[in-house]
Amino acid sequence: MENQVRKIINLDNDWTFKKGMDLAGFSDRIDDADWCSIHLPHDWSIFGPFKEDNPSGPRGGYAPAGIAWYRKHLHVPQDYANKKIYIEFDGVYMNSEVHMNGERVGKYPYGYTTLYYDITSYLKYGEDNLLSVKVDTSTQPSSRWYSGSGIYRHVRLIVTDKLHIGQWGTYVTTPEVHEKEAWVKIDTTLVNEANEHKNVTIQVSLLNEAQLVVGKVSKEVVIEPNSEDVFSQEIYVQQPELWSIDNPYLYHVKTEIISEGCVVDDDLVAMGIRSIVFDADKGFFLNGTYTKIKGVCLHHDGGALGAACPDRAKERQLQILKEMGCNAIRTSHNPPSPVLLDLCDQYGMLVMDEVFDEYQIGKRPRVFDEVHALDKQIRRPIFAYAEVFDAYHEKDLTTMIKRDRNHPSIILWSIGNEITEHMRPEGVELTKGLHDLVKAYDTTRPTITGIVHLEGANTYGIPDMVDIAGYNYKETLYEKEHAKYPERIILGSETSSAAPFEMRAVYDDFLQADTQLKTFDDVTKELGDIVSIHSDHRYIRGEHSWKITNDLDYISGLFIWTGFDYIGEPSPYAWPSKTSYFGVIDTCGFPKDAYYMYQSQWTTKPMLHVFPHWNWEDKAGQHIPVWCYTNCDSVELFLNDRSLGEKHCSDTELLHVSWAIPYVKGTLRAVGKKENKIVLEKIVKTAGDPYAIVLEADRKAIQADSQDLAYITVKVVDKEGTLVPTAKNLIHFRVEGEGRLIGVDNGDPTSLEAYKGAERSTLGGLCLAIVQSTYNKGKLVVTAESEGLVGCQLVLTSI
Ligand code: GAL
Repeated sequence: MENQVRKIINLDNDWTFKKGMDLAGFSDRIDDADWCSIHLPHDWSIFGPFKEDNPSGPRGGYAPAGIAWYRKHLHVPQDYANKKIYIEFDGVYMNSEVHMNGERVGKYPYGYTTLYYDITSYLKYGEDNLLSVKVDTSTQPSSRWYSGSGIYRHVRLIVTDKLHIGQWGTYVTTPEVHEKEAWVKIDTTLVNEANEHKNVTIQVSLLNEAQLVVGKVSKEVVIEPNSEDVFSQEIYVQQPELWSIDNPYLYHVKTEIISEGCVVDDDLVAMGIRSIVFDADKGFFLNGTYTKIKGVCLHHDGGALGAACPDRAKERQLQILKEMGCNAIRTSHNPPSPVLLDLCDQYGMLVMDEVFDEYQIGKRPRVFDEVHALDKQIRRPIFAYAEVFDAYHEKDLTTMIKRDRNHPSIILWSIGNEITEHMRPEGVELTKGLHDLVKAYDTTRPTITGIVHLEGANTYGIPDMVDIAGYNYKETLYEKEHAKYPERIILGSETSSAAPFEMRAVYDDFLQADTQLKTFDDVTKELGDIVSIHSDHRYIRGEHSWKITNDLDYISGLFIWTGFDYIGEPSPYAWPSKTSYFGVIDTCGFPKDAYYMYQSQWTTKPMLHVFPHWNWEDKAGQHIPVWCYTNCDSVELFLNDRSLGEKHCSDTELLHVSWAIPYVKGTLRAVGKKENKIVLEKIVKTAGDPYAIVLEADRKAIQADSQDLAYITVKVVDKEGTLVPTAKNLIHFRVEGEGRLIGVDNGDPTSLEAYKGAERSTLGGLCLAIVQSTYNKGKLVVTAESEGLVGCQLVLTSI
């Protein structure tokens, strides 16, 4: 569906870019003939080089930063001269300055917010215009995670009449939602920038998914010259299709502004009809149905693509999470791209939309860095949001709420994560102020804040100054806290994931795992309030965390730290580790073993995951722990067709069943049973030597729009086609035809290979190549070769 009158012009393509110069890049006297030609979204940090002495340090993933300019030539037609023209950036990281024809339109520090400028008076109509954007990330580290640098989200021009709907000027709520009927309320902000008053009809239609009008209202209003006003109308809907996790049904609200018989502006907004209730005793309800929030925290990078994620990168992340049974994300710890929210609406993914990681007091230096990191790591101050909080927080929070408040997926507004002021008297006023500011723009969702220093926060009453108390890593205190504060709604805003501090397919610590443990009591004494560095305990810590959350109805759910590994914060390690280890999915999007623990708990379709791999030639005769995650009732394990016994999930409080097996090479076969019937069988075989490369694409056909992506999984297999889980082969890529290689990865946090290179080693026998389409339809040929292996070629289509 598209606007018919208002023009929304995508500006992603055909920019020039130059890095490392603090020149007058806004001036048309600077010749940009030798600048790079690029398309947005763009992140120059991800091109590297990543170096130990880059000032971004471990927090920023040792990525390079600095100053760069972007420029774009825009022809603006003469007939726009009597229009209003705005430019909207979904995010520019950071300290951006926007110039039009040499004049500065605006500058802005925060890199995770939407920027919106009225450029009407800066333009030359009927002529060429020079748009230039300076980006400055030179003060580092500027976030506690990898931020990227540049215009890393979409950009657009918006052309309207002088009589128009304001920015984010359609606000849709659902004051009444029942199974059989609902009311949809539409507040329209009307802006009249003409010099005379206008008699206007505001006509609002509600369209269903088939684009049929299911409700329509209109109102005659008068608006004074150079003024703005808000007008409300309501639409009654019979038999509404409710938006939910399993059926994310979307309606559209179409608003038309009619003046002197003509539609002069229109706006189109996707919305969903759904109800949410959080209850201190009973937990969370979506459309009246008890729903446990099974969430993950998500930073914004897309692995090898850095911060510059085309829409498909975000979509793929949501698909992988949905497969796991995940139903929610927390946009840790900053406003996300609008695209991600659109996708969450479409995929039925609940969202905690989070605005800040700091208030006035910066998180510096963090003890965390010193406790676990290598000796040579220095304490680095972090120049993040505290630097600009006083001057900008009202605007940034207002922008997030007004921009995002129509998304049915959003169920929580988070006003901050682990804020230092939570344990200080100043925290009281700050928390109240931000909570009230949210309420000024939206009262339909609760506020929350992620609290880690609970004792301090309780002293100042912080948890009860927001609608919902977000507890970070406090699962073992839930029962006590609930008894003490029975009115308090508690949610696990951040909880430990079951991923160990070992990369995917590496099992050095896991091999020490104790397979005798049967109850959480056996292991609880090992689980302190700090992140355990013992790997097998981290697997169990994640199980424990989910078990507690699941057992207590009044706990609305959790958000594990994290869904995907992200660049930066390689804690507890440092260089050459530059990405985190917390994810249950690596930076490639490949699930780690821990992913399947959640899948076994969060999905009902029979599943069974057996690990580790079975290539322990150097450990012949030694006991190797074998674990299974399953939603079956029991698993019987066979080694070379000899049964090692059947284990029933109900015999252990833990969320896995396990064996310790003296290693002999061969085939492990796990048989999953439900109600004593075999429903699944999984095989893990000892692989032979690496023999060939196999390529598998996530989709065989992609859009010829110069944005779409194909994710190609590269496998090294033996002669029989079995994945070689220990293979570390260097794969060389070539892409011919209508596509280009834009990223390679293997999920190894310590790898020094370039994300933007044309080769990558495998980790656990796997690596990834990301290929992007061009504007041309046709074939796209991906070739992968490696010394000593049979190569592979894959042909995709761009349509
Ligand atoms: C939390 C914090 C996260 C991340 C995590 C690492 O306390 O909120 O942003 O730093 O620790 O364990």
